[in-house]
Amino acid sequence: MGRSIKWGVLGTAGIARWCTIPGMKTAEGCELYAIAGRSLEKAESFREMFGFEKAYKGYDALLADPEVEAVYIPLPNDIHAEWVVKALNAGKHVLCEKPMALNESEMRRMFKAAKDNGRILMEAYAYLHSPFVSEMKKIVLSGEIGEIDFIDTAFLTQDYSEDFRLHKELGGGGIYDVGCYCTTMILSLIDSPIDYIKADAELDENGVDHMASVMLRFKNGARASFSAGMCLGTDTSDRYDRFFVHGSKGYIRSDYEYNQEGEILYKITVKSGSGERNLSVRKVSAASNYRLETEQMCRAIRGEEKPHITEEFSLKNMRLLDRILDKVGFTTSREEYIFDNGVVLPTIGYGSYMSTSDRGAAVIKDAIVCGYRYIDTASFYGNEELIGLAVTESDITRDELFIASKVWPTDLGREKTLQSFEESCRKLRTEHLDMLLIHWPKTDPNDENWIEKVRESWKVFEELYEEGRVRVIGLSNFLPHHIKPLLETAKIKPMVDQLELHAGYMQEYALAYLKDEGILPIAWSPLGRAKMIADEEITKIASKYGKTNAQVLLRYLIQRGIPVVPKASSIERMKENLDVFGFELSEEDISVLSCLPQSGWSGEHPDLAR
Ligand SMILES: NC(=O)c1ccc[n+]([C@@H]2O[C@H](COP(=O)([O-])OP(=O)(O)OC[C@H]3O[C@@H](n4cnc5c(N)ncnc54)[C@H](OP(=O)(O)O)[C@@H]3O)[C@@H](O)[C@H]2O)c1
Repeated sequence: MGRSIKWGVLGTAGIARWCTIPGMKTAEGCELYAIAGRSLEKAESFREMFGFEKAYKGYDALLADPEVEAVYIPLPNDIHAEWVVKALNAGKHVLCEKPMALNESEMRRMFKAAKDNGRILMEAYAYLHSPFVSEMKKIVLSGEIGEIDFIDTAFLTQDYSEDFRLHKELGGGGIYDVGCYCTTMILSLIDSPIDYIKADAELDENGVDHMASVMLRFKNGARASFSAGMCLGTDTSDRYDRFFVHGSKGYIRSDYEYNQEGEILYKITVKSGSGERNLSVRKVSAASNYRLETEQMCRAIRGEEKPHITEEFSLKNMRLLDRILDKVGFTTSREEYIFDNGVVLPTIGYGSYMSTSDRGAAVIKDAIVCGYRYIDTASFYGNEELIGLAVTESDITRDELFIASKVWPTDLGREKTLQSFEESCRKLRTEHLDMLLIHWPKTDPNDENWIEKVRESWKVFEELYEEGRVRVIGLSNFLPHHIKPLLETAKIKPMVDQLELHAGYMQEYALAYLKDEGILPIAWSPLGRAKMIADEEITKIASKYGKTNAQVLLRYLIQRGIPVVPKASSIERMKENLDVFGFELSEEDISVLSCLPQSGWSGEHPDLAR
């Protein structure tokens, strides 16, 4: 056995008391050294109960102790990021309870802090360390049950006493709390990109999900379904777990429970060549998963092995949870969106249409100085050269910017699309574009061949994507009946669709379709080209929050999970439009804004002549 690691525990949570600390106590190479609580009394009681050497009032005090080498963090989900980063900056290795973050961007920042400090950060999913899971992975990998057809699993709990799980702002809810077990189990066994997600959930009056049902389809054809829920009854001791994996040659069925201890019995049935079934029963002895988890982390800290739950796996799982939460309408406003390929899109971009007519490149430079990192342009705007100039003369590097352009519909078809792309790159002084969109599906509403041209251009988009010349490919002003025929031939699904979207013109039918297809909507004219700014209803709502009308209009879209590209000419307005993350519109106001009569429409429509 290698040297012993001195552990500190931040918080006196139930999971720490009943599961993790008892597991740590028996773990080889782990020394229970310090415990911190919000009150010294509680910390002292844990010290006595488990034999910690030190008890601290407050988490900062524990992190300041140089003797502590690793910390275990079982705090409410919403403060994981804050304390994980503090602990890493204090030079500690960190094991943090699941889900470690509220969304993928937060999690990426946490892993970056780990890298910057040269420390190990691992998400705590004790059950993934159980011999049962390793055995099951072995069976799946050996091909004994063939290719996975589907997995069905559930984690449903009865009552919860009043704690963070019942509060949205604290990162509560069944999907975060127990749905994450189901997603990690599924992702441990199916290694293929996700093709589509269907999900629904019952949200309580606080917007927290109590019961969710999720269906996943993977690119390799495998499917998975799970149910996750909390507060489904009154008996706190009871819960229901289910797990079933079906393959082309057999299945694994078990009375497996996610955090079970003791002997686990599970059956494997393998079809024989003659079609008969051959039943075998295997037993796996499950030692304390929490002990195994600590021991693995200690070995990783000593450099003997890599963390069992990798950064890549945690991010993949968080991305899936993000997408499920989006689907069920749980979305909290995000400062950035992350595509499946890991590309990050800032939620607020600078809309550059007509922006350079008075002050040229200076206005783009102002936008960059104000903090805009996503710049929305198009070959049609005629300002790509000015943007290219502003970017090269700015103080930030190309990597820090997200530059998006569009191909005008008269440039559809293979040769013209390629030419348009190269022209955009030349003018923007860049080798690659962060995003490229087909600006409109057609120029002439009577063009019967529009889809052929779009398909040809899309093929070029796919090639550019595969060559790494464009990081995100998508559409603009495509409605469901334009997207469907494209999907029939597309190899790569469009990742975004930029549409005119603002209070007064929300195109709900298109939005519902995009959500279903997993295509991210982006709002152009998010302020309704200033027409909506004067709206009385908006003024009423804005005065309640002490915000400007423009901020309410932008906040509304962001709360609905839609990135925006407002255009503004002055630095004051540019800043005002970025300052929309410090308040939350109520459910009632979101409803009011969603039901305004149509107003502020630009008059542009993909099927009408422009
Ligand atoms: N994909 C497409 O087909 C498509 C179509 C149209 C637009 N777009 C993109 O979407 C971007 C934005 O759309 P948009 O320019 O049509 O409309 P918008 O962003 O909804 O509105 C811009 C107008 O609002 C004013 N404004 C901005 N911030 C304000 C604030 N804080 N208070 C009061 N007024 C404010 C601006 O005035 P000042 O400029 O005077 O500050 C401008 O007149 C475009 O620039 C373009 O990048 C895409």
